[in-house]
Amino acid sequence: MTQRLLVRDLAQLATPAGTGAPLRGSALDEIEVLEDAFVLCAGETIQAVGRMSGLPALDDDVIELDGRGLCAIPGLVDCHTHAAFGGDRVEEFSLRAGGASYEELHAAGGGILSTVRATRAAGEEGLRTAVERHRSWMLREGTTTFEAKSGYGLDRDTELASLRAIRDAGGIPTWLGAHAVPPEFEDAEAYLDFALAEVLPEAAELAKAADVFLERGAFDATQARRYLEACRDAGLALRLHGDQFTESGAIPLAVELGARSVDHLEATREEGIRTLAASDVAGVLLPASALFLDRPMPPARALADAGAAVALATDFNPGSAFCESLPLVCSLAATQLHLSPAEALAACTVNAAHVLGRAESVGRLAPGFRADLVLLDAPDWRYLAYHLGGRVVAQVVVGGELR
Ligand code: NIG
Ligand code: FE
Repeated sequence: MTQRLLVRDLAQLATPAGTGAPLRGSALDEIEVLEDAFVLCAGETIQAVGRMSGLPALDDDVIELDGRGLCAIPGLVDCHTHAAFGGDRVEEFSLRAGGASYEELHAAGGGILSTVRATRAAGEEGLRTAVERHRSWMLREGTTTFEAKSGYGLDRDTELASLRAIRDAGGIPTWLGAHAVPPEFEDAEAYLDFALAEVLPEAAELAKAADVFLERGAFDATQARRYLEACRDAGLALRLHGDQFTESGAIPLAVELGARSVDHLEATREEGIRTLAASDVAGVLLPASALFLDRPMPPARALADAGAAVALATDFNPGSAFCESLPLVCSLAATQLHLSPAEALAACTVNAAHVLGRAESVGRLAPGFRADLVLLDAPDWRYLAYHLGGRVVAQVVVGGELR
């Protein structure tokens, strides 16, 4: 018999309105709020939501959860993380606190390449343990669907082990095969020869998407195009790390190749904003990364006002954003990006689900959607963004089960 869970007497239930995805313009700002509400889950699926006054009579077999003083929102969707890594970068963090720059550390063989060394040394078991641990941190912060990238192995075995570890921890794997050029290769071209011939065939079986770091000191637009076209031909959806430090052609390339998203956008200027807004490519904003590196925030308000499909994510990784909290990202969205709490919620639920190709099943509290919900310890759902760094997540339900 299907197990049913009733979350009752909620102060509020808040969900992005409507049925479409991605949300843009004024639709991005529309949250439907029910006061004195319930959510009824049947197995892994939401059966009904509504006001308590409309709750139908239920048999005794239903497990009840007291929602008094709590608000329900959809389980949060983190569409951009680098959760598969060994070691840490706390030493580098201290150096940066003393004034060293992220790009300088990277150019000196630290940065991403120091995590590559630690990730290769971790082995498959070590990687599995790390991804599981990071996933448990995310869950505690209300993330019920997460994407995670490889990209710290950059050799065949470690890249594939990363993708397996992500998949087995319940994540949606992205092959970030073009994150940096590892030291054993002469240049980016030689590395791509290897990665596309030796890693792509199996990576394409494990991953849902491919990603590239298109940036000065990483891969240029010609190299990114070569990598992405090969990945597209192997059946993967496309993502790009673009416009993080410099505008190097990520947006036009993404639009031309029909990519799902360009992520970062801290350096994007007017023309890029217009081009992205007029396209089907989503802009994934990562304000925790801009904060952590003390970099300018992305032009979120201009993107949203121009009608771009914006999503929010943590960018969780050991170097540029050691932060797994989407509630904190929502606070940064409201205070630094000037998005409303409603836009922030839609950006890390429906729109993030769209970036992952999952908008049909996650990101909304509505019948037929997966029974993933976050119960906020708050009388008003906007505490999600309002409670800066506080313990706003009271409980998390994943697939109809309390975690
Ligand atoms: O999204 N920018 C490139 N990649 C990651 C950071 C990786 C790292 O510093 O380890 C990012 O910020
Ligand atoms: Fe990233």
